[in-house]
Amino acid sequence: MFGSGISEVIATTRGDKVNAAPMGVVNRDFLYISMYKGSHTFANVKQNGKLVANLVLDPQLYVKAAFDDLESSCFDCFDGVPVLKAAYAWVEFTCAVFDERAQKNAIVRLHPIRSRIIDRPIIPVNRGFNAVLEATIHATRYNALREPKYLKLIDYYGSIVKRCGGKQELHAFTLLTTYLAELDGDKG
Ligand SMILES: Cc1cc2nc3c(=O)[nH]c(=O)nc-3n(C[C@H](O)[C@H](O)[C@H](O)COP(=O)(O)O)c2cc1C
Repeated sequence: MFGSGISEVIATTRGDKVNAAPMGVVNRDFLYISMYKGSHTFANVKQNGKLVANLVLDPQLYVKAAFDDLESSCFDCFDGVPVLKAAYAWVEFTCAVFDERAQKNAIVRLHPIRSRIIDRPIIPVNRGFNAVLEATIHATRYNALREPKYLKLIDYYGSIVKRCGGKQELHAFTLLTTYLAELDGDKG
């Protein structure tokens, strides 16, 4: 299911709480995620050693999962495992954590247990959709580091969203700017 390189998914995990967050599944010799150790996803993976990679086409869900908690109505429970209702396919993994002390990220190696294909959508490449993902990644970096260079990158990808995106992408980018305004509101 995962091509070589990095596939963007929304990872769902269960710990004390169910969580969803965008993550990149890396396929280079083996499958893994380079995971920020401060994330809820990492805490859940450490707690119960499982992760579901949900393949999703809704750009707003990536933005929301990156900055907020998804409502419980977004989740289905499959044999106790949290999956996203919006997923057109998902893969459940057991996880092996390789945590080097000095590093900010841990390598979480993924071993597939089972998968479901719910739909096989035809997905023409849309630069607007990809630009929403790029802008959202830079927004999560801005959230962590508050470096102005990320705001410039978000503006740049926003211009691509406006040129190439459809309604969903435009709504997703508007939602992202709302979260960014809240972050800047935090400053003072
Ligand atoms: C498309 C996309 C891919 C991402 N990939 C990763 C990743 O591979 N590893 C990571 O630690 N964070 C990644 N992030 C950032 C996390 O989603 C972000 O830090 C999020 O707030 C973590 O949420 P959590 O604390 O609920 O786990 C990615 C964000 C986006 C938008």
